[in-house]
Amino acid sequence: MSNDPAYKETWNHLAATFESALMHVAGYTDEAQLQASTEITLKWLSQTIGINPTDTFLEIGCGVGRVGRELAPLVSRWIGTDVSEEMLRHAADRLRGIHNVTLVPTNGYDLSQIPDASVDAVYCTVVFMHLVEWDRWRYVQEAHRILKPGGRFFCDNANIDSYAGWDLFLASAAVPPSQRPPHLSRCSSEPELRTYLRRAGFNNIRTHLGGVWVVARGEK
Ligand SMILES: C[S@@+](CC[C@H](N)C(=O)[O-])C[C@H]1O[C@@H](n2cnc3c(N)ncnc32)[C@H](O)[C@@H]1O
Repeated sequence: MSNDPAYKETWNHLAATFESALMHVAGYTDEAQLQASTEITLKWLSQTIGINPTDTFLEIGCGVGRVGRELAPLVSRWIGTDVSEEMLRHAADRLRGIHNVTLVPTNGYDLSQIPDASVDAVYCTVVFMHLVEWDRWRYVQEAHRILKPGGRFFCDNANIDSYAGWDLFLASAAVPPSQRPPHLSRCSSEPELRTYLRRAGFNNIRTHLGGVWVVARGEK
C-alpha cells in the first residue's frame, strides 16, 4: 500500500483551469474578494515578520500568486514556489508585468533549488492543512536552511483547538475513508507548530490565535 500523498498530481489536477485553481486556493473566483483576503494576509505578515523594501521574500505553496501580486511591489524580490506547475502557470499570467517575481516549481517535499542562507523572509499560508505532518516539518526545516541569519519565518494552519477548526476537523472526519481526497483539510495545533519551529532551530518564536487560525513565526 502506498502512502504517497501525490501532491503534484493532485494539485495539477485541481488547477487544470484558472477557475478551478481559484476555487481551490480561495473558495471563490471573484478578484475583489481575493484582494480583500490578501489584505488580511499582508496585515498578518506585516504584524508578525515585517515587510521591508529590501527583503527577498519566498512563499511555499504560492498558488495563483494571490499574495505575491500584492506583496512583490512592496519588496526587493518575491519568489513563489509551488508543487503544481499548473498553479504556477496561472500565477505567471496573474503576475505578468511585475518584474521582481521568480516562480519555481518544486517536488512537494523540499526547496532544493533554493540556496542556503539566501532569503530574508519565508512564509507558508493556507498550505499546511493540505500536507501530512512530516511534510510540514520538512518545510519548516527547509525554511530555516534557506533563511539568512536573522531571517524571518511565518506559517499558519487551521487550529483544531478553535470552534471553527474543530468543525473543520469533524467535516474532514465525516468523509468515508475510501473517499478521502488527498487534499482534504487537516488541522494543526499551537504546540505542533511551536515544536516544529523550536526543533528546527528558530529563535524568538511567537504564536498567535485568531478565529480558525493558528500562526507561528520565528527568526533564524
Ligand atoms: C489553498 S492553496 C493556497 C495558495 C496560496 N498560499 C494562497 O494563500 O493563496 C494551497 C497551495 O499549496 C500548494 N501545495 C500543495 N501541496 C504542496 C506541497 N507539498 N509543496 C508545495 N506546494 C504545495 C498547492 O499547489 C496550492 O497552490
